[in-house]
Amino acid sequence: MSNIKIAPSLLAADFGNLQRDVEMVDNSMADWHHLDIMDGVFVPNISYGMPVMKAIEKHATKPLDVHLMIIDPDRYIKTFAELGAHVLTVHYEACTHLHRSLQAIKAEGMKAGVALNPHTNINVLEDTINDIDLVCMMSVNPGFGGQSFIENTYNKVRDLKALIQHKRAKTLIEVDGGVTSKNAKALVNAGADVLVAGSFVFKSENPTLTIQELKDITS
Ligand code: DX5
Ligand code: ZN
Repeated sequence: MSNIKIAPSLLAADFGNLQRDVEMVDNSMADWHHLDIMDGVFVPNISYGMPVMKAIEKHATKPLDVHLMIIDPDRYIKTFAELGAHVLTVHYEACTHLHRSLQAIKAEGMKAGVALNPHTNINVLEDTINDIDLVCMMSVNPGFGGQSFIENTYNKVRDLKALIQHKRAKTLIEVDGGVTSKNAKALVNAGADVLVAGSFVFKSENPTLTIQELKDITS
C-alpha cells in the first residue's frame, strides 16, 4: 500500500465548466486540487486569482494545494489562508527571506511549501528543510501547462530525498510539470510523494479514469 497523492492541476480544466471539473476531481481517486496562481511577472503568464479560487473553494471537498508563481508572496499569505488553502507553496526564487515566509504561512494554519525551478539546486534548502512541509520540484519551467518533462528531475528528486532523510525531516516531495503515466512510477521510485498532473488528466478522453490510472501505477 502506498500513500502517493495525485493532485490534478485545474490550470488545464475547462474554465467555462469549472464547477463540473472541480466535482470530477472530488469524485475521483485524486487526493488534492492543485491551483496555479501566476502573476505575469515571476512567470511569463497570468492564470487566475482570488475570485476564481473562491469559486473553486465553494465546490471543492478535497484539500487545495496552492502553488504561487508570484513575486513577493508574503503580501498575500493571509488572503490565501482566508480563501481556504491547505498547502501554500511559494517559490524559493521569489523569496528574499524564505524562513520568514515559511513561518508566516504556518502561523496562518497552512502547510508550508517551497517550489524550486529546474535550474535551482536542492542544496539551497539544506538549512530550511526541517521547516518545510512540501517541496514542489518543478519538472518544467513554470508558467504554462502542457510542456515536456525535464529528465534531470529524477536526479533532483533522489538528491532531495537523501537530504530529507539525512536531516530526518518529514517533508513531502511533489513533482509538478509534464507528469504522465510514462514517468509516474519512476518518479515515485526516485522518492516523489505527490504528483501534479494537468494536461495529462484534463486533456484525456476520460479524466476520471486517467486519475485512476495514475493512482494504480503509483500504488
Ligand atoms: C506549471 C504549473 C503546473 C502545470 C502542470 O507552471 O505549475 O502545475 O499546471 O501542467 P502539466 O501537467 O500540463 O505540465
Ligand atoms: Zn503548479
